[in-house]
Amino acid sequence: MKTVSAPPKTYRVKSFGCQMNVYDGERMAELLGERGIQPAPEGEEADLVILNTCHIREKAAEKVYSDIGRLVKAGEEAGKKPLIAVAGCVAQAEGEEIMARAPAVSIVVGPQAYHRLPEMLDRAANGERATDTDMPAIAKFDALPARRKRGPSAFLTVQEGCDKFCTYCVVPYTRGAEISRPFAHLITEAQKLVEAGAKEITLLGQNVNAWAGEDDKGAGVGLAGLIHALARIDGLERIRYTTSHPNDMDEALIAAHGEVAKLMPYLHLPVQAGNDRILKAMNRQHTAESYLRLLEQFRAVRPDIALSGDFIVGFPGETEAEFEDTLRIVDEVRYAHAFSFKYSPRPGTPAATMDGQIAPELMDERLQRLQARIAQHQYAFNQDSVGKSCSVLVERTGRHPGQWLGKSPWLQSVWFEGDHAIGDLVEVTLAEAGPNSLRGLVAALV
Ligand code: SAH
Ligand code: SF4
Ligand code: F3S
Repeated sequence: MKTVSAPPKTYRVKSFGCQMNVYDGERMAELLGERGIQPAPEGEEADLVILNTCHIREKAAEKVYSDIGRLVKAGEEAGKKPLIAVAGCVAQAEGEEIMARAPAVSIVVGPQAYHRLPEMLDRAANGERATDTDMPAIAKFDALPARRKRGPSAFLTVQEGCDKFCTYCVVPYTRGAEISRPFAHLITEAQKLVEAGAKEITLLGQNVNAWAGEDDKGAGVGLAGLIHALARIDGLERIRYTTSHPNDMDEALIAAHGEVAKLMPYLHLPVQAGNDRILKAMNRQHTAESYLRLLEQFRAVRPDIALSGDFIVGFPGETEAEFEDTLRIVDEVRYAHAFSFKYSPRPGTPAATMDGQIAPELMDERLQRLQARIAQHQYAFNQDSVGKSCSVLVERTGRHPGQWLGKSPWLQSVWFEGDHAIGDLVEVTLAEAGPNSLRGLVAALV
């Protein structure tokens, strides 16, 4: 039976997963804002809740169902029925299943279709349930409204999708094929972000270094060309990019790290594993050695570059000796930071049906060993930074009055005291290191 309901007045967007989902969440919020729908006040149930989901690992994907249950319950307690929309990668991968399993959900919208959210809201107000998981050739960005003011550090999606098909990964299925947004659109969006107060922009893409386009003179350029052009925007002080794939690196991007002062000395370059048999089974199409050689090239042009990576432990068939190769590569690279995960079999991916699935307890044990090793290197990197002077971009207030928190060029969290404001770039000397943050002394006070 159809029930016609009042259009929502307030919304909440909950984004899970990667930074691209955070970016998409912001853009959906902007779309709703254009329609006069306001963010729900803190502590109040929203009329419309968008769960912007992640499908990368089983735990992340299951979260959506528990969240829907919680929302329905909270709504009942508050005497209202929230309009629930499921967006993001679970929506893309399991849209029909969500509609069947969760009658409380009115809208299912995939990551390439959310610009059509307003029409879907109209249909939902008419009591219809709507699913849109089309993957049009990137009409989305053209249909989105202008950027709104946010913090001093902003995300900008430049590339989406993945053609790599690593055997464990759902991204090529949930985000579709690789596409690059046009150069001119990106320059305009970056200018708007800077006008709205951004000092730092992080360029996002599932394979951000696969970005390719034509610059304002019609010349073919890669990510390095885009970075050079962005660096010419007055008021933009810092540029970052994530996530890169080793096989999409080119000479120009490596060189840019030595040429563009605004490009921060930080590189997130996942390797996933340190053993070549495992890398092959993962279909990574690079070896441990070729990865290490690539990092040497970055270190040659930017010796202080902070390196970061992603790792998977317990890929099907991984032996103890093969796992130890992962520990070895971690020691060799001395990462400033890294993410590590237990392998999670994802429906429809080749690895999910491979022989030699690893027992959960063994994965736990390997993950603990790997994380301990990564933590050692992160702490050592922070300790080695003590005594350096650098700029910190103030992102928020600290725990105590007069304290500020921000990021160093190497993406470390730095706290310090003084008379500052969010968005300031403050010169500090790094005075003391902890495992996860550093204390800075403001240069004038040193
Ligand atoms: N495009 C990026 C990252 C994609 S997802 C890249 O290739 O580097 C982020 C990370 O999640 C991956 O780098 C990988 O470490 C992890 N991941 C992806 N699929 C996974 C799975 N099935 N199980 C466990 N971790 C996974
Ligand atoms: Fe997934 Fe591999 Fe593509 Fe990264 S490169 S998104 S891990 S398939
Ligand atoms: Fe997750 Fe989709 Fe990002 S699966 S990691 S939200 S691309």
